[in-house]
Amino acid sequence: MKISSKYLNLELSYFAKVRKLIAQHNALNMAEGYSGFHCSSELIKLVQKYLSESLNQFAPVSGEPLLRHMIAEKVKHLYGHEYDENDEVTVTAGSAQGVFTVLSALIKEGDEVIVFEPACLNYVPAIQMNGGQPVFVPLKSPDFHVDWEEVQKVISNRTRMIIVNSPHNPTGATFNELDMLRLQKIINGTKIIVLSDETFEHIIFDAESHQSMALYPKLAERSVIVSSFGETFHVTGWQIGYCLAPAQITKEIRTVQEVAIQSVNSPFQLALAEFLHKPEEYMGLRQFYQQKRDLFNELMEPSRFKPILTKGTFFEIFCYDAISDQNDREFAVKLLEEQGVAATPVSVFFHEKSKKHLLRFNFAKPDELLRKVADRLCKL
Ligand SMILES: Cc1ncc(COP(=O)(O)O)c(C=O)c1O
Repeated sequence: MKISSKYLNLELSYFAKVRKLIAQHNALNMAEGYSGFHCSSELIKLVQKYLSESLNQFAPVSGEPLLRHMIAEKVKHLYGHEYDENDEVTVTAGSAQGVFTVLSALIKEGDEVIVFEPACLNYVPAIQMNGGQPVFVPLKSPDFHVDWEEVQKVISNRTRMIIVNSPHNPTGATFNELDMLRLQKIINGTKIIVLSDETFEHIIFDAESHQSMALYPKLAERSVIVSSFGETFHVTGWQIGYCLAPAQITKEIRTVQEVAIQSVNSPFQLALAEFLHKPEEYMGLRQFYQQKRDLFNELMEPSRFKPILTKGTFFEIFCYDAISDQNDREFAVKLLEEQGVAATPVSVFFHEKSKKHLLRFNFAKPDELLRKVADRLCKL
């Protein structure tokens, strides 16, 4: 039987191709989007404890009450907004499923969704799969900031949502207070909902503080926040995260969640709930990754790669203008095959090919690996 593919052009398969090349060349992997560190052994023990308690049937669609309680407490403590743990917090199968679920719940055929580019690979396909129309706004050089005048210009009566992501993958850019106030002003009096991907909320550098929608009551009342335990506790493969949203929106989200996945498994949720009693486990993350970022930048200093200093996440973009004229996809493959270093061409995060000479490196790696990578790149 032959079927015609609905999504043949999707860039999501990019990493599958690169994974093969990495294995083939036994390359040092700075390309993919996950942490290179083990999670806490205490968290593993908690999972084992709850796995042995025969909690093997469906969890509530909204998530385990204890985990929802701990999430609401954490958010209240960090950002001041009180989300009702019963009606406004939903445990999801990671941030990406959260994003998909929110779009599915709120976007109708033809609705416009503003996306800043470069953008996380899942946003645009998730908008399109749900009948929405992405409207692209490029982030501005040199530091990938938002031009709010440009945002204002693309808003129409079909604009239903703006997706924001701070700290930002792939650029490491972050929103400051002014960005939040501009956003607040722009959506005031409209029907626009903000989808705020705060997956990297705990990985932010240089004494900056994370600008959550939950810090601004007027934004919180018309935002959906998605976040994840994956990046925070080095467990991206577990795929557990959450959505925070006003009750009316949460109701819609839970309807889709029930149809799509029913619920996230109980033992892992309960283990995470108990682990959240130790805030030092996530509050210490920024120092941990700042040390990695600073080391990698120091090691790369003698090279001809020029950093665009990251302010958050475990990604940093480097420009290779001084080394090659090749486009970034070709250059990334050359780097992989000839130097044994895998990095991600930034053009994959654009809907149209970008001509810039930029690569994204994931520095969530042991120091020894960072040294090896820099050693190879400094020879170019
Ligand atoms: C900004 C951002 N949002 C969402 C995700 C996906 O998160 P999850 O693994 O929890 O689905 C990632 C993964 O790297 C990400 O970088």
